[in-house]
Amino acid sequence: MKLMIDDANLENIKKIYEFFPIDGVTTNPSILAKNKKQPFEVLKEIREFIGSEAQLHVQVIAEDADGMRQDADRIQKELGNNTYIKIPATKEGLKAMKMLYEEGFFITATAIYTQMQAFLAAKAGAEYVAPYVNRIDNLGANGIRTTKEIYDIFKNNGFKTKVLAASFKNSQQVLELCTYGIGACTVSPDVLEGLIKNDTVAMAVKAFARDFEGLCGTGKTMANCN
Ligand code: G3P
Repeated sequence: MKLMIDDANLENIKKIYEFFPIDGVTTNPSILAKNKKQPFEVLKEIREFIGSEAQLHVQVIAEDADGMRQDADRIQKELGNNTYIKIPATKEGLKAMKMLYEEGFFITATAIYTQMQAFLAAKAGAEYVAPYVNRIDNLGANGIRTTKEIYDIFKNNGFKTKVLAASFKNSQQVLELCTYGIGACTVSPDVLEGLIKNDTVAMAVKAFARDFEGLCGTGKTMANCN
């Protein structure tokens, strides 16, 4: 399963990349707005930091197909290969996906709340679809179940489209999809930190160090003990 950062703050991204095995960065207009910098200024900084091989997912703003296509042209031109154009799976969005797929763009269908949106986006040529797990839960539906069913629809219909699950609020949601073999998850820095945070593990590691120092002396490790 690919693991991506859902954020546009370069400092946050750098901190996460230093420790975690990360495959790329996803953004959306609200994430860009929260970061307060001009969109292409920060997106180019992110591209430079993650390199040309990593995936960068950037969303169109226009709500009609022709406008989405123009947004996609600019995004691709400014940010280069391995940039995925995020298009909301609306009726106009499906039209844009069909056009952009024919032109060879990589498409991530986003704002996915239903299985049928995902199915149609896959048929329209999306490489990824992004179901919003936690937002679906907040509607009183089941985000994990919806996402798993989308995965099954793709498998049972022989689509090459992959699931890029988004909108997570806790580790359990990520774990459930990881166990199911979902293609990719994009996770905010806070939730990413939570994937490894465990006081019991930290205490066990401290106890190992304390026992070893009891044997060899304070500050000793395998690098400098006798
Ligand atoms: O890009 C969509 C996804 O990141 C939404 O996440 O946390 O705003 O529900 P959230």
